[in-house]
Amino acid sequence: MLKVLSGVRPTGDMHLGNYLGAFKAWVEDQYSYDAFYCVVDLHALAEEINPEVLRDRTLKTALTLLAVGLDPSKCTLFIQSHVPAHAEMSWLLSCVATYGELGRMTQFKDKSHGKDTVRVGLYTYPVLMASDILLYQAQRVPVGHDQKQHLELTRDIAMRFNNKYGEVFTIPTAFVPKVGARVMDLQDPTAKMSKSSNNSSGIIYVLEDPSSIEKKIKRAVTDTNSDVIYDPKSRPGVSNLLELLGAATDSKPEDLAPKYQNYGSLKLDTSKAVIEMLDPIRQRVKDLEKDLGEVHRIIAAGAQKAAESANATLERAKEAMGLLS
Ligand code: TYM
Repeated sequence: MLKVLSGVRPTGDMHLGNYLGAFKAWVEDQYSYDAFYCVVDLHALAEEINPEVLRDRTLKTALTLLAVGLDPSKCTLFIQSHVPAHAEMSWLLSCVATYGELGRMTQFKDKSHGKDTVRVGLYTYPVLMASDILLYQAQRVPVGHDQKQHLELTRDIAMRFNNKYGEVFTIPTAFVPKVGARVMDLQDPTAKMSKSSNNSSGIIYVLEDPSSIEKKIKRAVTDTNSDVIYDPKSRPGVSNLLELLGAATDSKPEDLAPKYQNYGSLKLDTSKAVIEMLDPIRQRVKDLEKDLGEVHRIIAAGAQKAAESANATLERAKEAMGLLS
């Protein structure tokens, strides 16, 4: 069976971008691949985060992933720090990655821009991400558009390692969905919807109340024209709404556009479709919250299963690099 791996940072509440760009594909992939999904709490440490908040969000993220449809009998769900091989592999690969290539990562440039102090972990973040993927010999990595550059780097690191030390790693490929790979902020449709945004009125959370979703979509920034055209470059606001409606109803945004004469009806249908899509997830979270012990059992079993795969690859990598066993 081919392998899949993906991850999410527990740095905030999960939003529609995470769901449409990644989680929807995670759920589909669990039925046809040997799928590993991790909550990457070590990655969250690359930026300021309160320890209590990190602990709560890590559990809440695992809970949300179960609620969106991950089935522990079909996939392996675990917390990154519960599998020590990730941190160990990260050191090995940081001796394969180069200073220059890490400095070219746009996420690092964006997040470090204008900061007085920047953590080394923010710089080496993509090496830890490469470790997540390569430890499981994943062929396929379902991610949103913003992670494509990190995937390219992972491929480069894996190929360099294999050329130098022998074939240890499978070369992974990013899977980016056709619709929903770049969900934009509702208040600033030129920026992606992001957990780290300061303004929550542009973000729709996976567990948000229907009335609040309706309000946010109603107030979404469109533009001064009133015709509905799908053109993300010149009409980012209205195109974002068409993308959301398309992703929620499994249709192409360009086919939906001609059906609308004004923004009002587009917004109404988009909020209906988004609410309908997220409704069952919110209901499932309520059930899961009643039995947190079960969530803890699922992630403990997940870590055990993940460690078996990860440790086998780690041993091969250490051996290939000349570490004494
Ligand atoms: P993170 O936590 O920022 O996001 C999790 C997933 O959601 C996708 N995503 C989006 N997709 C569409 N539109 C958006 N506005 C949007 N915002 C986020 C992301 O592309 C991602 O797929 N570095 C990763 C976490 C990670 C990882 C990994 C991913 C760590 N190790 C190994 C894959 C494989 C990150 O920060 O994702």
